[in-house]
Amino acid sequence: MSRSRNRLPAALAAVLLAATPVAAERLNIGRTATPDEIKGWDIDVRPDGKGLPVGKGTAALGETVFQERCASCHGEFGEGAGRWPELAGGSGTLKSDSPVKTIGSYWPYVSTVFDFVHRAMPFGAAQTLTPDETYAVTAYLLYLNDILKDQDYEVNEKNLASIRLPNEKNFFMDDRETAEKEFWAAKPCMTNCLPKEASITSRARILDVTPDKAAETAKKAPPVQ
Ligand code: HEC
Repeated sequence: MSRSRNRLPAALAAVLLAATPVAAERLNIGRTATPDEIKGWDIDVRPDGKGLPVGKGTAALGETVFQERCASCHGEFGEGAGRWPELAGGSGTLKSDSPVKTIGSYWPYVSTVFDFVHRAMPFGAAQTLTPDETYAVTAYLLYLNDILKDQDYEVNEKNLASIRLPNEKNFFMDDRETAEKEFWAAKPCMTNCLPKEASITSRARILDVTPDKAAETAKKAPPVQ
């Protein structure tokens, strides 16, 4: 009886210890992050706008920021200087042989533009833009992509998330649980499962993946030196 009595407080103590948020003190490594440090890291912006800092800007103002801080790499109109990434154009190319993926043609949410620029750009001098400069330059990027038509339209923390990007609908939640329901069933069909005969749409030989036998013999591996 006394054994179980002694055990209880010990178990309770273990639970309390595990729940203590101050891992740094408990494990005796590092120190607890200060609220300011956490604020510095906690800068993510969600598609619904949660996390956007207070601020505002227009494409007209953003153009100045862009020319000074971004154009050397991304080109005056976001066309990309040299081999630096393009930030505009590419509309309608996603299904082509050489898709051009930009904010306008590919990205799903405006929040990602704000978040990424705020977090990572200008390359090599990340997080040197103020929230207002970031709003302005985001507006300019939307303007370059023909998503904002009015260069004096003010974007801010309240309206930015309501701007939609053209490719949003092509991003959707993983639907394999329903689309591949049969496969995920408790007892998936393992034999003769196809409703009809499978049709061959392309052959590896035509795709030039596997050389045919004749070509293989002709092309004997060169002797090892
Ligand atoms: C020194 C060159 C340089 C400068 C200056 C620069 N960038 Fe970038 N930018 C890059 C590189 C490199 C990448 C690719 C980074 C990666 O993929 O991690 C990039 C990526 C981006 C992307 C994502 C593109 C995509 O489709 O993946 C955006 C948006 C962007 N930059 C915006 C800006 C803005 C806005 C500025 C100015 C405030 C800026 N950049 C300044 C080099 C630069």
